[in-house]
Amino acid sequence: MRKMVALSIVAIMFATQIGIALAAMDGNPRKGRFLFRQECRPCHMENPIHEQQEYHAHYLGPDAKRQAEWMEVLENIDELPCFEHWKEISDSDINDIFTYLYNGAADSPTPERCG
Ligand code: HEC
Repeated sequence: MRKMVALSIVAIMFATQIGIALAAMDGNPRKGRFLFRQECRPCHMENPIHEQQEYHAHYLGPDAKRQAEWMEVLENIDELPCFEHWKEISDSDINDIFTYLYNGAADSPTPERCG
């Protein structure tokens, strides 16, 4: 029993480290801003312009979350309800988008609204 607990703790620590390694947030935020406006904003703006009503989502921009929350979203990215809509975006583009979101998060030194 003790051994199991110890093993799970090691497994959790390992998984967390991998998560942090994936959530690098070291992309190009300027490109990320451009990509976010192009790929995400049509559904995630205050008055979404996506033509299909069912896709309407609430406002998202860098300042919609705190840095730790953006990290969490990135770590569980495949669980997002809209992930299937942006599979064509490359890993490097995703890194750029999340770098932009992270850098402008509500608790960052430079909160940014995607107006
Ligand atoms: C086709 C429309 C559409 C596109 C494109 C889209 N989303 Fe979404 N997204 C949704 C819908 C619908 C939901 C679920 C309702 C909600 O949470 O507003 C959602 C939910 C989310 C959530 C979870 C809600 C939250 O506040 O944590 C995140 C994060 C998210 N989207 C990020 C993105 C990012 C980043 C992109 C661009 C790479 C993107 N979305 C592109 C429609 C879309």
